[in-house]
Amino acid sequence: TPPEDTTPSVYRLPFPPGFTERGGCPFDPPPMLRDHHDQGEVREVALTDGSTGWLVTGYEEGRTLLSDPRLSSDRLRNPLVVKLPAQLRAQLMADEAVAGNFIAMDPPDHTRYRRMLTRQFTLRRVRQLEPRILEIVTERIDAMLARGTGADLVRDFSLAVPSLVICELLGVAYEERGEFQARTEELLNLDIPFEKQLAALDELRKFILGQVRRKRATPTDDMLSDLIRSDTEPALTDEEVVGMANLLLVGGHETTANMLSLGTFALLEHPEQFRALRDRPELMDGAVEELLRYLSIVHHGLLRTTTEDVEIAGRTIPAESLVIISVSEANRDPRHYDTPAALDVSRPRRTHLAFGHGIHQCIGQQLARSEMTIAFPELLRRLPGLRLAVPADQVPLREKMAVYGLHSLPVTWDAPDA
Ligand code: HEM
Repeated sequence: TPPEDTTPSVYRLPFPPGFTERGGCPFDPPPMLRDHHDQGEVREVALTDGSTGWLVTGYEEGRTLLSDPRLSSDRLRNPLVVKLPAQLRAQLMADEAVAGNFIAMDPPDHTRYRRMLTRQFTLRRVRQLEPRILEIVTERIDAMLARGTGADLVRDFSLAVPSLVICELLGVAYEERGEFQARTEELLNLDIPFEKQLAALDELRKFILGQVRRKRATPTDDMLSDLIRSDTEPALTDEEVVGMANLLLVGGHETTANMLSLGTFALLEHPEQFRALRDRPELMDGAVEELLRYLSIVHHGLLRTTTEDVEIAGRTIPAESLVIISVSEANRDPRHYDTPAALDVSRPRRTHLAFGHGIHQCIGQQLARSEMTIAFPELLRRLPGLRLAVPADQVPLREKMAVYGLHSLPVTWDAPDA
């Protein structure tokens, strides 16, 4: 049986009925999103608590709304969060949960934090990291090969790679990586109750705080040291640096991990695409964009609150409304893509919303792309005859999770010739 849903509280929101229920295909968005398309790409929907929200399923509409300054990302303004039980709300509003967590802020606060990080995520900085990413990928594959001809790709590969890459980026010392990984694994372990996850988050914050204090005393050449040194007025507090580091960890770990495992599963289930990619490695960059579009793992969509009445697609969304921009539906909008429901690694490039759009567009997207364009070819190349070790319908899906993907992916490959 799949583990109990221990999604963080912010996602235990009264979404529309059926919002997290899946249809037959493990790669398709929840059918509920597609229902009532006749009511338009922007429509008012009932939520399970009796209130209403606005669901956006069109590509152009989604893109337009994501760059509209009248839509707020401030979590404390979100009508669903406002209605949460007092204790959960208090957790979300606690100082340490808010400090540096700029994904949930609007300008000018958002701008101030984000600007401090953009330097760290330039294409050049990411390219510098690529040799290390390849080493990390190689080490993980070596370890899988050393153990035999089978593995759980989620546990043995997909979760480990992004976590080690973030260690590299933040500058967590080698001796301490084991501790860092143990903590982040705990954070993502779905078998433990929600309270324990919160405790794990607390532990992780303490761990990062320890790193921040050390780097204040002895700076090194990495992102944490740079943030500490940044000459902003007022200077960043330790809590803010920890909050920013934590956001990078949370934003960059599960997302990339699920793209790696769900992406591999999707390729295994589309053998002609798998073969095309193995035979023509030059397709890889486009294939990564296509997998991002096709899988759109941020399944609950992007949440915003209108600060004023907003007119779009002939509708008026009133001020203070919850808006759910469904990235997965927008990325399969038939007005924007031919045969949107097909996975086609040689599809001509078109833009997609898998990394969002506008001022909050994923700051780690180049890094995520590098991780995927390095990891997929190495998996295809070094694990000959890679295939599922269980029937496809027994691969446990992360059905009700904020970030869609897999709980595990049992795979096997051919033994080397004796
Ligand atoms: C923002 C997706 C990897 C860090 C976002 C957003 C999306 C997204 C959709 C926009 C959220 C919104 O508008 O509310 C993804 C996917 C990834 C990925 C699909 C992997 C394939 C990463 C990585 C990092 C990262 C590797 C960092 C190491 C962030 C941060 C934000 C963000 C810090 C907030 C940006 C802001 O609010 O200005 N991501 N992400 N992400 N992502 Fe990613």
